[in-house]
Order: sequence, then C-alpha cells, then structure tokens
Amino acid sequence: MTPRRDATMSTAEKTFSKGLEGVIAAQTEMSFINGTEGILEYVGIAIGDLAKNSSFEETVFLLWNKRLPTQSELEAFNNELRANYSMCDAMKQRIKACPVDAEPMHVLRTLVSSMAMDDASPNENSVEAARHKALQILATTPAVVAGFDRHRRGLDFIEPDTSLSFAANFLYLLNGEKPTPAMERAFDICMITHADHGLNNSTFTARVIISTLSDMYSAITGAIGSLRGPLHGGANEGVMKMLNEIPTVDDVEPYIMNKIKNKDRIMGFGHRVYKAKDPRAAELMTLAKQLADDTGNSDLYEKSHAIELIMEREYASKGIYPNVDFYSATTYHCIGLKLDLFTPMFALSRIAGWSGHVIEQLGDNRLFRPTTDYVGPHDAPYTPISER
Ligand code: CMC
Repeated sequence: MTPRRDATMSTAEKTFSKGLEGVIAAQTEMSFINGTEGILEYVGIAIGDLAKNSSFEETVFLLWNKRLPTQSELEAFNNELRANYSMCDAMKQRIKACPVDAEPMHVLRTLVSSMAMDDASPNENSVEAARHKALQILATTPAVVAGFDRHRRGLDFIEPDTSLSFAANFLYLLNGEKPTPAMERAFDICMITHADHGLNNSTFTARVIISTLSDMYSAITGAIGSLRGPLHGGANEGVMKMLNEIPTVDDVEPYIMNKIKNKDRIMGFGHRVYKAKDPRAAELMTLAKQLADDTGNSDLYEKSHAIELIMEREYASKGIYPNVDFYSATTYHCIGLKLDLFTPMFALSRIAGWSGHVIEQLGDNRLFRPTTDYVGPHDAPYTPISER
C-alpha cells in the first residue's frame, strides 16, 4: 500500500528535525552554550572562572537562584545541605536489599525513585516545595551511591560528616577516610563542571516529565535513566574502557586508526552542540594531567593526550573534539573511583542542573507535546487472523 501523506502533515514535515537538532524547546537562565566558540557560562559566568574560584555548593546556589550568594547566604545554604546528608532507615534497608552485582546506575535510578515514598507530600509542586525536594535529593544521593558501593563490598555504611563539603563528604562516605585537600578540590571541580549544560538529553527528559505536573522524583529518575546511555553520560565509562584496552602510548595510533577504519565511535569525542573543544574538557584536561602525575597514572594522561592529537588530525575538519567525558575518565580514575561509579558521579552533580530546570519549568509550564510525521500506510484492510 502506498503511504499517503495527510495534508495537515506538511507543516510538521517542514519543521521536522531528527533528534530535535537546532530546535529551541525551552528558555533558561541557568547555562549558556556557544558551540562554535566553545563557551559555557552558568548565569553568565564562564565555566573556567567557576572551576578556578567557586565551590560546588556555591555553583548550585548560583544555578538555583540565578546569582552568587553572599557569605552568610552561602553558609546558610551549606548548613541546609549538610543537615540533609543522612539517609533514612528505610533507604538503608532498600540498599541492603539490592543485589550486589547490580549496576550502580540502575541502583541509583531505582533508589532516587524510591525517595518519593519517604516524602509525606511527594507530589507537591510549588516552587518552594520543589526547591526543598531538590535540596534533599542532592544532599542525600551521595550517601545512597556510597552506601550501595559499601554494601556490595560487604562493608557497613558510614555516617556522613556534616563538617565536610559535598565533595569531601562523598569521598569519606565511600572510603571511610577524609580525602586530601587536593583530592577534595579535584572532585569539587568535577562537580562544578558537570552541574548543568543547557537542554541536554537528560535535562530535556526531566523537563518533559515535570511538564505533565508529575513530580520532582519522577523527573530526576527519568533523567538518570537518560544519562546512563553511552551517547550521553555513560561515555565516561566507555573512555576508561578504551584507555584500558590500549597497552601503551605507542599502541594508541594503530588502535585509534583501526577504530576509525571500522567507523567505530570514539567515546569522549563529538557533541551535538560543540563544534570546537568543549570548554569543560579543557578544564578537566589540566586537572587530569596534574592528578595523573600525582597518583602515578601519567600513562593514562599520555594515552589520552595522544588520542586527542590523532582525533584532531583526523576529525577536526568535521568539528569533532573532546567532550566533557574524555578527561573526566582519567580524573575519576585518579581520584580512586571504580569504573562503574563514573556515571553516578556525573549524576550526583547534574542533579543540581536537572532540579534547577524542573523548578524553571514549573515556574512557566506548558505541557511538552510535539507531533510525529506519520509515514505509515493509510486505509489498510483489517485482515481476519485466519487469513493472515
Ligand atoms: N567518533 C567518531 N565519529 C563520530 C563521533 C565520534 N565520537 N561523533 C560523531 N561522529 C561522526 C558520526 O559518525 C557522523 O559521521 P557521518 O556524518 O560521516 O555519518 C557525524 O560525526 C555526526 O554524528 P551524529 O551522531 O549525527 O552527531 P550527533 O550530534 O548526534 O552526535 C554524539 C553527538 C555525542 C552522540 C556523538 O558525537 C557521539 O556518539 N559521541 C561519542 C559518545 C560521547 O562521547 N558522548 C558524550 C557526549 S558529551 C557529554 C554528555 O552529553 O553526556
């Protein structure tokens, strides 16, 4: 049967953009990206300036309030976050019920979803309530990720230390030791650089979900599901696997050229928006080099840098450069994180962005409901099952 196009589809056809490339689907005051020049700003402040001067907590305040805090506001915000570091007993029981071989991203998605059951009014969507839920999810999730990692290692949970920053507390909950100031700062910079990034796939997912006036937990849960994909946040694990497959820096050239010949995607390269080097990759490159040297992992940095040079030679003309996931892999490894905790780390930080976007969406909501361009048949006969 010849497909028939409905006359009303002509408009949709004209505006159809596969993967919604180039479509403006929301307004935000949180982050600005110029993909041609490689610029990222949070509320107008360059990501490099924030990475150098800010803390994750201050960056979250900036994203949620669209301005930097005063000293007393920052202290109050820190105190509010720290007061919510602990998990409730029900959450501890749920972690203990998780299979020890479960993927941390599946565990994270499931347990963030379950937080709705610990909230007496999970569906309350006033801006005030949404902000409170955002703060609680952000503050508690490090304990959930670290708690699951300890559970699967057969270790007891550690109680959060409210004297510690978000970054230091997470590493403490994971390892039972307070990190060195250098490690804490490195992790803090990772958190800052991953906090928000325009209408990326997971943020779009969160905004789509909340646009039905569902609830914060559903929106963040959906966003976590989106983030784990290898084309999105899951790429940082792919980068590490690739680095592990390359024995020495001398093996980089044949390995990458073989992948290019086979038309394989090189994880940690390319971006829908950036056609120049992702400014976050530039920040993380410096950090990765320093950490790699300090922790005896120089080979990882050298292999990464060699890959970047080959990719620049082969792919710069197509606008394919390193993205945020490329050097974050070496950085996370040097901080001592296990491979399958890389994407959960991304999620811990991006909760700040997701929830900020949920609050923005609630403040000026319109249901997301695009249309499809139907390309199937029309007027098809219904054939009885006995005749098929
Ligand atoms: N390696 C090799 N070729 C690539 C790559 C790559 N990493 N990325 C894009 N290309 C090629 C692709 O094969 C295609 O070539 P051709 O025109 O000859 O068919 C062209 O570039 C355009 O690719 P596309 O998939 O249509 O472009 P996109 O805008 O949908 O791609 C992307 C964005 C991130 C999905 C893609 O670059 C990719 O798959 N990268 C690897 C995965 C990755 O690193 N993801 C992390 C993204 S940044 C952080 C985040 O969002 O979480």
